[in-house]
Amino acid sequence: MTTDATQRLDELRVTALACTACRLSEERIHVVFGDGNPQADVVFVGEAPGRREDEQGVPFVGPSGKLLDRLLGEIELERADVYIANVVKCRPPNNRDPRPDEIDACKDYLREQLRLVDPKVVVTLGNFSSKLLLKVDTGITRLRGTAYEWWGRHLVPTFHPAAALRGSSQVLEDMRYDFALVRDAIDGNLDNEADEVDTGVSVEPDVDPEQLGLFNR
Ligand code: URA
Ligand code: SF4
Repeated sequence: MTTDATQRLDELRVTALACTACRLSEERIHVVFGDGNPQADVVFVGEAPGRREDEQGVPFVGPSGKLLDRLLGEIELERADVYIANVVKCRPPNNRDPRPDEIDACKDYLREQLRLVDPKVVVTLGNFSSKLLLKVDTGITRLRGTAYEWWGRHLVPTFHPAAALRGSSQVLEDMRYDFALVRDAIDGNLDNEADEVDTGVSVEPDVDPEQLGLFNR
């Protein structure tokens, strides 16, 4: 990404910090715009800020963030190597799910972040970011385990770290599998098996089905 794009990302942050486009602006402490390397090869997309994130204005600094850091380390990445953002930038009260109108109000920020950082790989953490970016209704359990071709790059959907923290050890093992896909995608080590696999993924008309080709390890 160019200096120009870095500057535009900064300008977008300034705009977001003053945003009142949805009701989530009412109870937030901080807008959690995003964090990390604007030239990253990988962008992680979570769901919404939690309490710690709201307090600090930085994504993934609470328990989920600690687990994310560990999984990053296992594929030889650190926070400084990646860029991290969420579907909605303000904390929903009591960590409730973000509502469709809130996601709608906020999604242009994310789209612009992805456009400006222009990573090789996008990793969606959990249902909200996976469904939003793949434009499908399929749940994360069925979507994960695969790297999708997505607007000329790879998208790897995986569980949200919070699911691993409250779930069985299998969830963590599945996340490790998906993070290995991320490593392979960064290194250019994925084989295209696009035409062989039926995902059962329903695609809305504004997505070119060609974009949903599959890559397996
Ligand atoms: N969970 C998220 O989805 N995002 C954060 O930033 C923190 C926890
Ligand atoms: Fe604006 Fe997004 Fe915060 Fe809503 S969640 S107020 S759209 S920044």
